[in-house]
This record gives sequence, C-alpha cells and structure tokens, in this order.
Amino acid sequence: MIIAVDGPLASGKGTIAKALARHFGLPHLDTGSLYRATAVAVIDAAIDPADEAAAAAAARALDVTAIDETRIRTADAGAMASRVAALPAVRAALYELQRDFAEQAGGAILDGRDIGTVICPDAGVKLYVTANAETRADRRWRELTAKGDPISYETVLAQTRERDARDTERADAPMRPADDATLLDTSSLSIDAAIAAAIQIVENARKA
Ligand code: DC
Repeated sequence: MIIAVDGPLASGKGTIAKALARHFGLPHLDTGSLYRATAVAVIDAAIDPADEAAAAAAARALDVTAIDETRIRTADAGAMASRVAALPAVRAALYELQRDFAEQAGGAILDGRDIGTVICPDAGVKLYVTANAETRADRRWRELTAKGDPISYETVLAQTRERDARDTERADAPMRPADDATLLDTSSLSIDAAIAAAIQIVENARKA
C-alpha cells in the first residue's frame, strides 16, 4: 500500500504522515527534506539558484543518510527549497529516489507537494491536507519563535503566501490535489482530531 500525503506548508501533513506511518507500520519519507537538503547544499556552495545545472548537481550529490535535520528546518532553507524545487532538473534529480522509496515491498508513506500527482499517481490512498493561510502562518510562527527566531507573525504570513504562490504557480509539478485525493482541512482541528480523521480516510480507502 502506498499512501500519498500532499499539502502546503504547515498544513499538518508532516505530522499526519508520521502518525499514519506509526499506526500502519509503514516506512515514511518526508520528500520536502530532500528539497530542503538540496537548498542547504546550494546555500553552502554559494550556487546561484538560477543556475539550474549546478543546483541539480547538488541534488544528485545529496547523501540522504546525512541530512542535518536542524539546518534544513530554518526559514531560509525553506525559502530556498521552494526556489530550487521550481527547477525541473532538480525535480528530475530527486525523482528516482522517491520512486524507489515508494516501491519498496510492503508499502510506504510519502509526504510532499506532488506525491499524488507526479511521484505516485498510482498510490492506493491520496490525502490532500490543507488549512487556511492564517492558521498555517500562526503554526509556523509559533514553531519559529519557540526555536528563538524573533520573526513577526506578519512576516511569516507574507512568507507563507509567497511560498504557496511559488509552489502552486510553478510549471513543473505544481502543488495541487490529485483528482482522486481526499481533502482534509485541518484549520479547526486539533492534531489528534486531524490524525484520527486521516486514519479513518486510509481505512475507508482500504475497504473500498
Ligand atoms: O514540505 P516542506 O515545507 O518541507 O517543503 C519545502 C519546499 O520543497 C516547498 O516549498 C516545496 C518543495 N517541495 C516540492 O516541491 N515537492 C515536494 N514533493 C516536497 C517539497
């Protein structure tokens, strides 16, 4: 069973994907971490993100067993991730790795932006997790301030809208729900309620 979990920044998709992985005993890949790790490599090597070939080379050279979880979670890494993710050569460089993960025996859960549409159009279950921009910005702002980042809520909201626009408007694999995805709006749900709803959706899909 392949479970695809897509959705925008701070929609709750990562938390939901992790919880589903635990509940159903499946391996989980956070595909955003691949784009974030590519972004960190691009920043470190001072690669111009307009240099598509150099950014794709950085993506191909990634050591996925040595991703620095702290560094890839900064706001700068996220913003650069959204820029390099718009480059078709970067997406192509990360495609096989995601496909291989999805195709392992016994199934897998992948979360991202294009899992249900491009990486695993054949997934048995597709979830599109969403929430309004203000709620997502508030969640992100709380996370960043808890880590000591002095950023304002207004800045985070503006960044959230900018990221949404870049992710949905890019030509290659834009963020959008697959036609056969089930939408889960988490705007007014607690984490536990969102997870329970996601488990129910997977169980219903498995029975169908
Ligand atoms: O989910 P995230 O915030 O960690 O993702 C960071 C960026 O990576 C996001 O702005 C868009 C990009 N991304 C993508 O284009 N496709 C994916 N499958 C996952 C992430």
